[in-house]
Amino acid sequence: MSTSTAIRPTGTSPATAPARLDMYVGIHKALRHFMMDTLHRVGRMDPADATDLARTLGQFEDLMALCVNHIHHENDFVHAAIEARQPRGSSRTADDHVEHFEHIDALRAEARALARSEPAERPVQALRLYRHLALFVADNFQHMNVEETANNATLWAHYGDAELMDLHHRILASLPPAETLEVMRWMIPASSPAERAQILGGMKAGAPAAAFQAVLDAVRPHLDDSAWGQLARAIGVAQQPGLADFR
Ligand SMILES: [Fe+2]
Repeated sequence: MSTSTAIRPTGTSPATAPARLDMYVGIHKALRHFMMDTLHRVGRMDPADATDLARTLGQFEDLMALCVNHIHHENDFVHAAIEARQPRGSSRTADDHVEHFEHIDALRAEARALARSEPAERPVQALRLYRHLALFVADNFQHMNVEETANNATLWAHYGDAELMDLHHRILASLPPAETLEVMRWMIPASSPAERAQILGGMKAGAPAAAFQAVLDAVRPHLDDSAWGQLARAIGVAQQPGLADFR
């Protein structure tokens, strides 16, 4: 299956340069989407509403857990590949990852203190969490751009696209099904129509039917009717449950 792979031209290459495989584009669109949505929800949360508080902090914890997993995947697969052919080539973003783990621990502590706090303290603690999460998101946006430019340039200098595709498939194969579903829930709505069709078309061809259907079910509530119709036509699935398949 192909979830986060896309062929992209480099930003600095001439228009005639061959496009290269970009492992970062899909997963980073997913993370940007998840981060922005969660930041927005923390900012608009009513700290006096226990249900809203629990739901919002639940999404916050899900985001932190995915960020931790993502850092491990990049360290274990992508940085390891860079280091194998260019020693110290991943040091800048590897150092960032150490800081991100520390930042995540601090944010989690703040969120748990908020959940345990007295009602009168919650507005101040919620605003503090919102601002510190915003700084984490800002830092990650800078970091992801370094990976998409400098790290991609290093990968492209030392690896062919077939090797990078193999590396990407090994990352995808290492993901538990629940993580794949969560990533797709954020990635597909954040992707362009062509990217959606490429990702889900690849998954339809390569994944078990039940796994593919589970991804469609996770994604469908987060696309409007126009986007869903365009995607359904592109990958040859029924536009709505219960309607006949058409191509
Ligand atoms: Fe990273």
